Amino acid sequence: MNILLLGSGGREHALAKKITESPNCQQLFIAPGNAGTATCGTNLNFKATDFEAIRNLLLEKDISMVVVGPEDPLVKGIYDFITQDKDTRHVQVIGPSAFSAQLEGSKSFAKSFMARHAIPTASYREFTADNFGEGLVYISGHSLPIVLKADGLAAGKGVLICSTHEEAAEGFKAMIQDARFGEAGKKVVIESYLKGIEVSVFVLTDGQSFVVLPEAKDYKRVGEGDTGLNTGGMGAVSPVPFFDDELKKKILERIVWPTIKGLQKENMVYKGFIFLGLMVDNGEPYMIEYNCRMGDPETEVVIPRITADLVELFKAVGNGTLAEQQLSVDERTAVTTIAVSGGYPGEYVNGKEIFGLEQPKNADVMVYHAGTTSTTAGVVTNGGRVLAVTAFGNNIKEAADKSREALSTLCFEGMYYRRDIGYEFD
Ligand code: AMP
Ligand code: GLY
Repeated sequence: MNILLLGSGGREHALAKKITESPNCQQLFIAPGNAGTATCGTNLNFKATDFEAIRNLLLEKDISMVVVGPEDPLVKGIYDFITQDKDTRHVQVIGPSAFSAQLEGSKSFAKSFMARHAIPTASYREFTADNFGEGLVYISGHSLPIVLKADGLAAGKGVLICSTHEEAAEGFKAMIQDARFGEAGKKVVIESYLKGIEVSVFVLTDGQSFVVLPEAKDYKRVGEGDTGLNTGGMGAVSPVPFFDDELKKKILERIVWPTIKGLQKENMVYKGFIFLGLMVDNGEPYMIEYNCRMGDPETEVVIPRITADLVELFKAVGNGTLAEQQLSVDERTAVTTIAVSGGYPGEYVNGKEIFGLEQPKNADVMVYHAGTTSTTAGVVTNGGRVLAVTAFGNNIKEAADKSREALSTLCFEGMYYRRDIGYEFD
C-alpha cells in the first residue's frame, strides 16, 4: 500500500525508516519531511497541517494509510477531516479524533478525564479571567513548588514550575492577564508538584485493545547533569533500568487499562499512539500528562527496538485485530544523543553544512535526521535539534558510548550535544 507520513523531525525519520522496512509499504510519502526522510521515500513540499494539500495527495497517489507524527494536525482534526470525507474515508489514519486529541490539546480536558477514571495524578484546580482573584488566593495557600500549566498547546513551553508563591502569582498573571501563551494560556491548570523520576510509556491502541511498546526516558535539559533550560529533548534511553515487572504491572492496572476503558466508556475514537508521561515516586506511578502521538526523541530509541512489522501493527489497529498481535522487541539497549544547533533552545542560525553523513557507520548505529534539509550545497541544518544518533549496546553505557563515537564523526558549525545521556544508570 501507499502510505503518507506527516511531520519533519527525528521521530518521523525513525518512523519512515521502519515503515519502509515493511513489505506492506509500496510507496512512502512524507510531508514535509527532512533530508533523512528523503532517503526513505518522497518528501512533499507542504505542511503537516495543510489539510487540502493532504486530501489532494491522498486521491492523486492512491494512499491507503496516513501516519501522523506531531500533535498539531491531530488537535486540528486531521483524523475527522479524512475519515468524514466520502472520497477519503477508506483511508486509515493512525491517530485519534480531534475530540480525543484533547487529551494532549487541553490540560483541563486531560485532568478531568483522569479524575473521571480515577487515574492517579497530581491534585489540581483550573482558573480563567473569571475567577482570577480566587486563583491568586489558591496560589498563596498552595504548598511549594507549584506547577502552572497553560491549558492549550504551547510547543512544550506552557509549564511553569515555581518555587515561590510570588513567582507563581507572577506567572499566573502573565498567562491570564498578559496572554503570555496567547489563547493557550487563557485557562490555567494549577497543580501540585510530583517528585520522582519521569518515564515515558507508549501504547498503540485501536480504542478497544492495545499493545504496550518499549518504555523510554528522555533528557529534557540542555546541559549535562540535567541543568540549564528545557528543550524538546537532548537524548533518550530504552529500556529504562528501574522499569521492572512490578512497576509495569502497576502502570497497566492503574493507568493504561483505566485510560482504555475511559476511552470506551466515553465513546472516544482513538486509533493511534498514546504517550503516557509518568512520574514514578517510590515505585508508585502517577500520570503527568497524555500526548496523542509518539515522543521525540523517545521514538528514536523505541521504534528501532521494535522488530515486528510496524505497518502490520498499524493495519491491525484499523481492522480490529490488534489483540492478536505479538510485539517482538530487540532486547538490547538503545540510546540516542541529539546534536543541536549552537544557541538552542535560544536563538540559532540555520543553513550550516553537515559533514560526515556519508561516512559508513557501524550496523548498530542509526543517524536520524531531525532539523535538516537538502540543498545544492549538500545537507544543511534546518532547526534546533539537527540529528539524533541512536546506537544499540548491551547496556546503557555501551550504547551511549557508541552513540557519542558516531557523533564524533559528524560535524556542523556550532554543533553541541550532551555527553552524559543515561549518566545516572552507569
Ligand atoms: P507537560 O507539558 O505536562 O509534559 O509538562 C512538561 C514537564 O514539566 C514534564 O515533563 C515534567 O518534567 C514537568 N511537570 C509537569 N507537571 C508536573 C508536576 N505536576 N510535577 C512535577 N513536574 C511536572
Ligand atoms: N520528548 C517529549 C515529547 O515528545 O513531548
